[in-house]
Amino acid sequence: MSDSAHQYDVLIIGSGAAGLTAALSLATKLKVLVLAKGKLNSGSTAWAQGGIAAVLDTGDTFADHIRDTMVAGAGLNDLETVEFVISRAPAAIDRLCELGVPFNRDADHLHLTREGGHSHRRIVHVDDATGWAVQAALLKAAEESANITLLPHRSCIDLITGHHEARYSGSGRVWGAYALNEETGEVEAHVARATVLASGGAGRVYQFSTAPRGATGDGIAMAWRAGARVSNMEMMQFHPTCLYNLEVKNLLITEAVRGEGGHLLHPETGHRFMTDYDPERMELAPRDVVARAIDDQIKRFGLDYVHLDISHMPADFVKGHFPNIYEKLLALGIDMTKGPIPVVPAQHYTCGGVVTGLDARTDLPGLWAAGECTESGLHGANRLASNSLLECFVFGEAAAQDILARWDTLEATPTVREWDASRVGDSDEEVVIKQNWTEIRRFMWNYVGIVRTTKRLERAAHRIKLLGEEIEDYYGHFRVTTDLIELRNLHQCAELIVRSALARHESRGLHYTLDYPETDAVARDTVLVP
Ligand code: FAD
Ligand code: SIN
Repeated sequence: MSDSAHQYDVLIIGSGAAGLTAALSLATKLKVLVLAKGKLNSGSTAWAQGGIAAVLDTGDTFADHIRDTMVAGAGLNDLETVEFVISRAPAAIDRLCELGVPFNRDADHLHLTREGGHSHRRIVHVDDATGWAVQAALLKAAEESANITLLPHRSCIDLITGHHEARYSGSGRVWGAYALNEETGEVEAHVARATVLASGGAGRVYQFSTAPRGATGDGIAMAWRAGARVSNMEMMQFHPTCLYNLEVKNLLITEAVRGEGGHLLHPETGHRFMTDYDPERMELAPRDVVARAIDDQIKRFGLDYVHLDISHMPADFVKGHFPNIYEKLLALGIDMTKGPIPVVPAQHYTCGGVVTGLDARTDLPGLWAAGECTESGLHGANRLASNSLLECFVFGEAAAQDILARWDTLEATPTVREWDASRVGDSDEEVVIKQNWTEIRRFMWNYVGIVRTTKRLERAAHRIKLLGEEIEDYYGHFRVTTDLIELRNLHQCAELIVRSALARHESRGLHYTLDYPETDAVARDTVLVP
């Protein structure tokens, strides 16, 4: 039995922008434990390039940012949530400045860049590596806090609920999580009165993704298994411009390259093809529009990639705005000041996730969630560029404030059962994990990608069913490893994505299907109930 060995007031699963924002606020009054899979900076936050959207320019307004967000989201966004987040953006940026994030400046103003779907310059950034600076500042503050304990290399397996209480209550109340200590191989029970899920997205369910290795949808799958609703999982965002390179598979070329004047060109004819798809907004149309246009060019002309070209701008301007991308490309033999960059779309962001409210609460008592693992209502059918980090800051803070406000009413933790590994052995068939992982990612890319059909979705559903039996059998017999935990969660997320895609009989935002090309008059969320 475990009652206090690993007990803190609040458990946070994830050390990215959402998790650390919540931790820093909670730590003003409570003892907080933050767990991360792998290193503390291994989530998407550290990889963010473009920046953070916020209305800071005198010519810009909240109303414009709200409208741009709703247009990108194809009306599926929740207006109250959009207003809630966007009106809090300037305060979130102030807080990051206080934490020492060295945002680019023009004299005494923050420099604002531009990205697709935004009607104004409103992206605050640190060169072209904003996430790295944000992650570092948040981690430094967390490391300096006496009330925060950071434990990397802990891979959470499942949430602890009433089913795991020593005196079985069977309730859906969440009491923390079981986590594999990746260094010792032991499974630890981390018990807490409040748990915040901040575990990021599920991008790695696709063969080509800009997301880091650990983006396997663990939090979404754990919350679903524990009984929480998830919604809009079919809304998977594909970023239009990922470097096409046979060795380096996931180097994002920030949208700000198009924002600062980059053109998309047919690689053989040099035709600026966005003129044919969205003549008004061209390269600055929302991501779903640009990604579909590139996908169409690639399929129609049998291309491997298209060109993104900013070499018509002065070399110093390009190097000054994109120093990191410039260096990375140069190391691969591409000089973006002199010629075009070969690019393809790749999965980039999980718009769907665990259903949360403005207070970041989920359906399950004791469980809050923030960031990319959630469906808060902000993004709707397609996320507007650079609204994601913003969502993490706003809902990380909202979760903390709600927990602090309710703290005195939260029940004391019960005694929970230790993880039982008595009936499992060591795997002698690791190849099964690799095989299944590769198979899922490949058919998700081919059958559940940018353009869908019902037949392809049904093919994917069939394979998911077969693999599910194999994976559960494996999970039931062998000791858990991070690879196995991730495979089980990837499979669960694939199932949720395909089920949601089959349920939506229209094309809207990121969900585009040849069988239902029209958009319904009324926008409805796809809500799955466990
Ligand atoms: P993450 O930062 O992904 O952190 C997840 C955390 O959860 C990690 O600490 C991870 O270790 C932990 N975790 C996961 N599973 C487990 C588990 N089972 N057990 C324990 N811990 C676990 N958005 C913008 O707004 N602007 C941008 O410019 C931008 N650029 C981007 C560029 C790239 C290449 C990518 C991939 C994304 C970009 N995004 C951008 C999106 C944005 O970075 C993410 O949506 C955001 O950082 C997510 O933050 P998060 O805190 O929700 O999760
Ligand atoms: C980018 O820099 O293009 C990514 C921005 C985002 O994902 O919001």
